Amino acid sequence: MERYSPILQLIALLILLPSPLNHNLANTTIDLKTDESSLLAFKSHITSDSSHTTLGKNWTTKTSVCSWVGVTCGSRHRRVTALDISYMSLEGTISPHIGNLSFLVSLNITGNRFHGDLPEELAHLHRLRVLHFSNNSFAGELPRTWFANMTNGLEELYLSYNNFNGTIPQEIGHLSNLRVFSMGYNQLSGQIPASTLSQCSQLQELWLSSNNFSGTLPKEIGNMTQLQIFDAYNNSITGTIPQEIGHLSNLRVFSMGYNKLSGQIPASTLSQCSWLQELWLSSNSFSGTLPKEIGNMTQLHIFEASNNSITGTIPQEIGNLSNLRILNMGYNKLSGQIPVSTLSQCSQLQKLDLSDNPFSGTLPKEIGNMTQLQLFYAYSSNITGSIPPEIGKLHSLQDLDLSNNMLLGKIPQEIGHLSNLRDLYIGDNKLSGQIPASSLSQCSQLQHIDLSNNSFSGTLPKEIGNMTQLQSFSANDNNITERRSQNWNDGYCSIVLVV
Ligand SMILES: *[C@@H]1O[C@H](CO)[C@@H](O)[C@H](O)[C@H]1NC(C)=O
Ligand SMILES: *[C@@H]1O[C@H](CO)[C@@H](O)[C@H](O)[C@H]1NC(C)=O
Ligand SMILES: *[C@@H]1O[C@H](CO)[C@@H](O)[C@H](O)[C@H]1NC(C)=O
Ligand SMILES: *[C@@H]1O[C@H](CO)[C@@H](O)[C@H](O)[C@H]1NC(C)=O
Ligand SMILES: *[C@@H]1O[C@H](CO)[C@@H](O)[C@H](O)[C@H]1NC(C)=O
Ligand SMILES: *[C@@H]1O[C@H](CO)[C@@H](O)[C@H](O)[C@H]1NC(C)=O
Ligand SMILES: *[C@@H]1O[C@H](CO)[C@@H](O)[C@H](O)[C@H]1NC(C)=O
Ligand SMILES: *[C@@H]1O[C@H](CO)[C@@H](O)[C@H](O)[C@H]1NC(C)=O
Ligand SMILES: *[C@@H]1O[C@H](CO)[C@@H](O)[C@H](O)[C@H]1NC(C)=O
Ligand SMILES: *[C@@H]1O[C@H](CO)[C@@H](O)[C@H](O)[C@H]1NC(C)=O
Ligand SMILES: *[C@@H]1O[C@H](CO)[C@@H](O)[C@H](O)[C@H]1NC(C)=O
Ligand SMILES: *[C@@H]1O[C@H](CO)[C@@H](O)[C@H](O)[C@H]1NC(C)=O
Repeated sequence: MERYSPILQLIALLILLPSPLNHNLANTTIDLKTDESSLLAFKSHITSDSSHTTLGKNWTTKTSVCSWVGVTCGSRHRRVTALDISYMSLEGTISPHIGNLSFLVSLNITGNRFHGDLPEELAHLHRLRVLHFSNNSFAGELPRTWFANMTNGLEELYLSYNNFNGTIPQEIGHLSNLRVFSMGYNQLSGQIPASTLSQCSQLQELWLSSNNFSGTLPKEIGNMTQLQIFDAYNNSITGTIPQEIGHLSNLRVFSMGYNKLSGQIPASTLSQCSWLQELWLSSNSFSGTLPKEIGNMTQLHIFEASNNSITGTIPQEIGNLSNLRILNMGYNKLSGQIPVSTLSQCSQLQKLDLSDNPFSGTLPKEIGNMTQLQLFYAYSSNITGSIPPEIGKLHSLQDLDLSNNMLLGKIPQEIGHLSNLRDLYIGDNKLSGQIPASSLSQCSQLQHIDLSNNSFSGTLPKEIGNMTQLQSFSANDNNITERRSQNWNDGYCSIVLVV
């Protein structure tokens, strides 16, 4: 328009200006008064908020609604579009007058102590997209009519950390625009109604952890084709993982830890979910071997399957998981040598827990190739031989636990190269020789050292007293001659010293 004269611009503007906007502008003050009285009615249902607290002082007719704390108004209509009063320690019920905030898009009351009914009047709000009701005191069964009436375009519904019980009602299927349904940390029970939930054809995130869901995973789970996150951690779900899970081509997170799932981990099926990044299966009853198809899940970042009954060796194909950051296979029945050179192909691996498995053989020197490793746990894993000097190459290592194995020989001097090491647990082995104190004192971040129940000899070196971060040092049940028990460092740091 810059090319035309100001007069032409003005004419163009008058022609283009839609008449409903004129009408809206004229009526704004009246409509904002409606919002004001709705919010004041809302405030009057809050029992904990006296005139001295946040809303009491702030929500007054002396200032415009749009400047009230927690209130956002639209820039065009100057009507209340968002209300965020999260974490204000408010207690009370939700006034039905909330249903008069007809421009409301987002309502956030997370982290208060609201109770009573979810107001059906919210169904009148045709612009409403996001409801955050998590972390409150709502209780009883999920209200069927509430879901039935919510025919607006609700997209995100957060109800986690309340005390809802009973089952997920069929009426949830009416929410055809729902993308996020967050129900974790309640007391819901029954089978997960996958068939009903799959009617919410836009559903991307389903959060159901820490409830009392039971029964099997229905095969209709495969109909939730938009699903990216399925979290049913910590319930009582039984049976096997259905094949249909392979239909979820958008799945990124599958979190089923702390349930009662059994059978072999269906790696071949799961590998059809080609975007799967996080697979949480710890503390179930999985058995059988780890299938070699695990190596086809090339997007995997996190694989946790600890505390099951998985047998056999770790397959070579696991080395294909070039994005793997966390591998936890502790507390299983894995055997054979720890396949260190295979695992070292997972060049992103940061956390590796293989504890409490009946492995055999030594810790190969290729351990030094796992240079991204921050945490390495292999306690109670029947490891023999000595600690390879190559361990000194793990410059990122913060936590090392090789307790309760059959390790022999001296601690290699190279341990002193681990400048980020915080915790060193190598008790309950058959290690011997002098404690390499001058090496250990180079590990300036060391906080906890456990050398107990080995065959170390000689005296307790003074350098230990120079390790400023040290909080505990145990060397009991060895053959150390000098016996002392005192606080070192003249009170600058208090070391719990057990010798
Ligand atoms: C406000 O809108 C109503 C219709 O909703 C209309 O009857 C009334 O005349 C308008 N008021 C003004 C001041 O424009
Ligand atoms: C209410 O709170 C808002 C945001 O904290 C603040 O900007 C405003 O000045 C307050 N108004 C009064 C009257 O205290
Ligand atoms: C606001 O909502 C209440 C309860 O739903 C209703 O009784 C009242 O008439 C409404 N007020 C206005 C101004 O719309
Ligand atoms: C609602 O509040 C929670 C907690 O403060 C916050 O994490 C979330 O982003 C908020 N959501 C919206 C849409 O304001
Ligand atoms: C909710 O739906 C029921 C039945 O469909 C209807 O009778 C009731 O009036 C509705 N309530 C509201 C507040 O819209
Ligand atoms: C849900 O909890 C209420 C108490 O808050 C109880 O009366 C009711 O029986 C419970 N319902 C189910 C299905 O457990
Ligand atoms: C849902 O899944 C079942 C079993 O996998 C299938 O038979 C059915 O056709 C699917 N329904 C829809 C609506 O996609
Ligand atoms: C899966 O892995 C197996 C064995 O590692 C391999 O033979 C097969 O081609 C892979 N399948 C796909 C679809 O990548
Ligand atoms: C421990 O490893 C040795 C070989 O290093 C093997 O013979 C033995 O069976 C293993 N013990 C257990 C309990 O797996
Ligand atoms: C792995 O470690 C061995 C022994 O320390 C070494 O000879 C080899 O070059 C390393 N391989 C890679 C790929 O870094
Ligand atoms: C401890 O550190 C001090 C100064 O940093 C140094 O003088 C002393 O020799 C060290 N003692 C031991 C036993 O390393
Ligand atoms: C303990 O150490 C002393 C001398 O340091 C040595 O003579 C003795 O054999 C050692 N005992 C054991 C059980 O290693």
